[in-house]
Amino acid sequence: MEVAELTLEQATTLEDECRNEGHTLHRDLLEKKYESLITHNPKLTRTLVSFQANKNTPYYRWFKYKEGFSAQMVHYLLNTLAKKQGALLDPFSGTGAALFASQESGWEATGIELLPVGCAITEARQAAEQVDIVQLKKEIETLSCVDFSTIKSDSPIQHIAITEGAFSRDTEDQLNGYLTYCDNQIEDAHIKTLLRFAAFCILERISYTRKDGQYLRWDYRAGRTRVKSKFNKGKVYTFEEALQLQLNLMVEDLLYEDMDLFKKENLSNTEQNIRLIQGSCLEELCKFSEESFNFILTSPPYCNRYDYTRTYALELVFLNKNEEEVKHLRQQMLSCTVENKEKVESLVTQYADMKREDFLQKAIFAFENHNALQEVLYWLNTYNGKGQLNNSNIPRMIANYFLEMALVIFEMSRILKSGGKVAMVNDNVRYAGEEIPVDLILSDFAEAAGLSTRNIWVLGTGKGNSSQQMGKYGRAELRKCVYIWEK
Ligand SMILES: C[S@@+](CC[C@H](N)C(=O)[O-])C[C@H]1O[C@@H](n2cnc3c(N)ncnc32)[C@H](O)[C@@H]1O
Repeated sequence: MEVAELTLEQATTLEDECRNEGHTLHRDLLEKKYESLITHNPKLTRTLVSFQANKNTPYYRWFKYKEGFSAQMVHYLLNTLAKKQGALLDPFSGTGAALFASQESGWEATGIELLPVGCAITEARQAAEQVDIVQLKKEIETLSCVDFSTIKSDSPIQHIAITEGAFSRDTEDQLNGYLTYCDNQIEDAHIKTLLRFAAFCILERISYTRKDGQYLRWDYRAGRTRVKSKFNKGKVYTFEEALQLQLNLMVEDLLYEDMDLFKKENLSNTEQNIRLIQGSCLEELCKFSEESFNFILTSPPYCNRYDYTRTYALELVFLNKNEEEVKHLRQQMLSCTVENKEKVESLVTQYADMKREDFLQKAIFAFENHNALQEVLYWLNTYNGKGQLNNSNIPRMIANYFLEMALVIFEMSRILKSGGKVAMVNDNVRYAGEEIPVDLILSDFAEAAGLSTRNIWVLGTGKGNSSQQMGKYGRAELRKCVYIWEK
């Protein structure tokens, strides 16, 4: 029987069973161990930590990357936790918020990001810092007189199955014509990057889709046969109006930032620009020498089945990723969807090639011998055996998530300087009523890797895992935290 089919009475019985003495023994012990370090930090609100706080922040508001940090949170953490500037790393750098905000206060920032979406946002931001605004405004004036639908595209957007039909014919013709115009008529590299980026930012607005939790939701006007309910996303912008709004916003921010003399001065004093590595941190972290960074500020994907490659499918297609490449990216991501397969075999080969098998084995040992984690996996596998999970790959996803995170944490500890700190943002999760204290398990991994836990700062009120879970198991708080580890 699927969990989703349980009656309220059955669900209550299952919940009671889950609360039996001993059922959560190792998680209870773990909670006791960290009890004194788990505190509410009133300075860290949910809004401050998330992208929401960027709504009015120049540059950050150009593209809504819901999973992004706010610039204010980065400033708060660095001001509170770091004695002086140095080298900062974000191994899951997304849009580069940690990189740009830290660079503004004089840090040398390095980021690793797997998805080309985050990399494109980071690169656009770098172009924004170097662009000639007067020249850009001139180009924008010129293009306001061009009819893009008349421009024949040399390389129109090639859709993948999950994006087919996202735009009306007119919109897609204009989008393709505009991109061809940018490629053929704009010489300056920074201006070209920013003009193309403006189109990248409006893809959702001009499409029949909406980013909605786990996937793209389709408006009935797209006429996709598979759409069951009559979802209406509201206004679908024409290409012209969306582009104009986006370009206005970008110019407004560029002019505003150009007047911020303090920031300009600080940036010109920073010797190095931001260093962005496009790739998987599971493959890249091992390339850094020991003790390379003073601070690691990061937020990995959460263990919540959220699939970035589906949410950002339009943007991936815009960036010329084909079906195979998108599938490959999905597999390379830190395991957080039920589709992710084990990476352990390739990691064993990778570490053997570097003659560092022992290092990998230490991370695997921490994972395999973590009682609370193994307790969760035991129960989830048991429910799976009885057909009680709504997806049978959930235990595999959780196991892979923690094994990969163990390795990431061991590598972070190795490349952190003595006295250096890690600040990590992450959410706890729950599956089939089993709460997974992600914060405490990862803190235990950090301790096994030679770090000590200074704080586990809990943000505002937690949230249930999903509406379905809340219905079945009642609303229990799940912690959303920022953890601080020190070497
Ligand atoms: C929670 S988001 C971080 C957002 C970031 N803090 C920001 O301000 O934009 C997690 C990021 O990790 C990236 N990611 C997932 N797997 C990765 C991997 N194996 N290596 C590097 N980045 C990865 C995702 O693409 C996503 O951008």
